[in-house]
Amino acid sequence: MRLLVTGGAGFIGSSLVDRLLADGHEVAVVDDLSSGDRANLDGADGHPLFRFYELDVRDLALRGLMAEWRPEVVCHLAAQISVRASVADPVHDARLNVEGTVNVLEAARAAGARKALYASSVAVYGRPAVIPVPGDAATDARSPYAASKLSGEVYLSMFRALHGLSYTTLVLSNVYGPRQSPTGEAGVVSIFTDALLRGSPTVVYGDGSQTRDYIFVDDVVDGFVRACGERGNGRRFNLGTGVQTTDRELHSLVALAAGAPDEPRFEPARLGDLPAMAVDPAPAIDGLGWHPRTDLLTGLKTTVEWARSR
Ligand SMILES: NC(=O)c1ccc[n+]([C@@H]2O[C@H](COP(=O)([O-])OP(=O)(O)OC[C@H]3O[C@@H](n4cnc5c(N)ncnc54)[C@H](O)[C@@H]3O)[C@@H](O)[C@H]2O)c1
Repeated sequence: MRLLVTGGAGFIGSSLVDRLLADGHEVAVVDDLSSGDRANLDGADGHPLFRFYELDVRDLALRGLMAEWRPEVVCHLAAQISVRASVADPVHDARLNVEGTVNVLEAARAAGARKALYASSVAVYGRPAVIPVPGDAATDARSPYAASKLSGEVYLSMFRALHGLSYTTLVLSNVYGPRQSPTGEAGVVSIFTDALLRGSPTVVYGDGSQTRDYIFVDDVVDGFVRACGERGNGRRFNLGTGVQTTDRELHSLVALAAGAPDEPRFEPARLGDLPAMAVDPAPAIDGLGWHPRTDLLTGLKTTVEWARSR
């Protein structure tokens, strides 16, 4: 199969590219390297079935590129991913995440693509009443990032109704693993890992009881691969474990994986932080035959090994 991955130089996108090439697919990446790293594609470079295009997904040149490459499936992961950055500059967030998504979908449709896969976020659930959040839970965007991600979901549905472009939306919980940047806000695992390996202090905000649902990047990639076919057309699936891990527990597990002292400093909770989050993966298990296979400590050990080797 021939695919195009936007955001393919990023943390999740580059792992998806490696898997698709290993499975024998032809893969083109479109990435402007704004937060991604070209080195994430070192393993793909030189592969006869791989192409890299440095381009902003909002650029109208994407249409010519897509018309030439003619992908069967377009995996759209390029995005501005910071909630805080979206609050500070909602216009920039919308330009990247809304306009970018519309340009990608229009180019995909015009080039005759069969299907688009879209990385959405649990941020679209706002402050959910039920945890783990069921697959059919109401959405409730409470940040510009959540609103822009949700608008991408609406556009997918519209492109399917108007043009027959199939799609599957994958709603990702807290993804962690090799290649995640420790500089952003999203990757608490990479932030803890980086600090603990350097022997720097680590901070837990609040009393440590806040929970998140950590999903290993290879499991997320497997969800995308399963959604490339006919399964899950016109549907959205949570990709998470359904298990809540507290910040304090996570710190202990990363410290264990890194062989470092488990002594975080506690600072006041940050305004607006959700107290708890986990999503129910049951619809993805039914609809895609997907399972979150990697247990947290195993995934953390792999992540720490990768960080140590850098
Ligand atoms: N990491 C998570 O926990 C998580 C959770 C939910 C959803 N997601 C979604 O998954 C996707 C990938 O996230 P990630 O964690 O790999 O982030 P990332 O920042 O590592 O990857 C994003 C990639 O998109 C590229 N990009 C950004 N703007 C672009 C533009 N205008 N044109 C072309 N390329 C552009 C960046 O250079 C980067 O390579 C995003 O859509 C994000 O919203 C991630």
